[in-house]
Amino acid sequence: MSDADGFVLVTRRGRRRDGQSSSSGNAAAPRVIAEEDREDGSFLRELDKTVDKVGDSRFTRFVFSRLTESLAVLGSNGLSEIVCYGLGRFSLYRSARCQLAFLLCLKARYEPARVHVYDPEFRPHEMRALRALGLEVTETNEEGKRAVQRDKTTLVFMPHCSRQLTNNFLYANWGCDELSGCILFTNSLSRTVNDSLHRDVLNSAGYMLRILPYVTEIQLENSFVYEEVFSDLNIHIFTKQDLLKAPADFWSSKEEPRYSTKDVEFVTAARTSNT
Ligand SMILES: C[S@@+](CC[C@H](N)C(=O)[O-])C[C@H]1O[C@@H](n2cnc3c(N)ncnc32)[C@H](O)[C@@H]1O
Repeated sequence: MSDADGFVLVTRRGRRRDGQSSSSGNAAAPRVIAEEDREDGSFLRELDKTVDKVGDSRFTRFVFSRLTESLAVLGSNGLSEIVCYGLGRFSLYRSARCQLAFLLCLKARYEPARVHVYDPEFRPHEMRALRALGLEVTETNEEGKRAVQRDKTTLVFMPHCSRQLTNNFLYANWGCDELSGCILFTNSLSRTVNDSLHRDVLNSAGYMLRILPYVTEIQLENSFVYEEVFSDLNIHIFTKQDLLKAPADFWSSKEEPRYSTKDVEFVTAARTSNT
């Protein structure tokens, strides 16, 4: 596949630089080779190395094994969709580049799951690169309020995103059937709620506070070589068994969250359309 920027996307199944077949579970992770030595090209070469590093890491193997267990607990036979919000400027920053590499490993592992990505900070050349990699770039700022497909399992990856995004996602999927089809790979819900002022939690993370008694949070050992990349991220699942313990009126009280406009980390749809 090539695009107007002169990239060529080459998929080599399971070949490592040493010529051995990869055993890390990212066997089908795409490799990106730049045809021209341009700014975009050097970034894509760097991404290729990062996919190797992330795919071969103990951290990724650990997350994959926990995801397999999570899917078994949920009685699901795989992911149908992966949604990623807030990756950040991956052509500039190492953390975002490693997180993109992780997303590509996830994509490869859960083929043919569709992968949707959105960050209001993406530049046009980053969106082109994402599309060349087979990801679907969401065109509008959903503010995290994407309703998942019923009777399917969706993984939502929100690395180091503002709590409003996670809170909005919970709001948009507020229901036993909906949440039991979601796996959140996000900053620890329990730490976000327990380590913040109660007033702040009520203002910006009310749905996180309410769901906390019914979530199963799977702690991940952060063994990745660059500590900051996956710090504080855990897997969260919602089993039907636990969700059914919620009181009868729990799901019916559902008001759309409103946030203070002072929070610059969370970009609203109104702010996106003004830029
Ligand atoms: C703290 S940064 C994290 C960047 C990167 N994932 C990392 O760990 O370094 C939060 C990211 O969330 C993005 N963001 C803010 N509002 C958003 C929205 N409404 N939808 C998706 N992403 C959003 C920001 O643009 C920013 O890139």
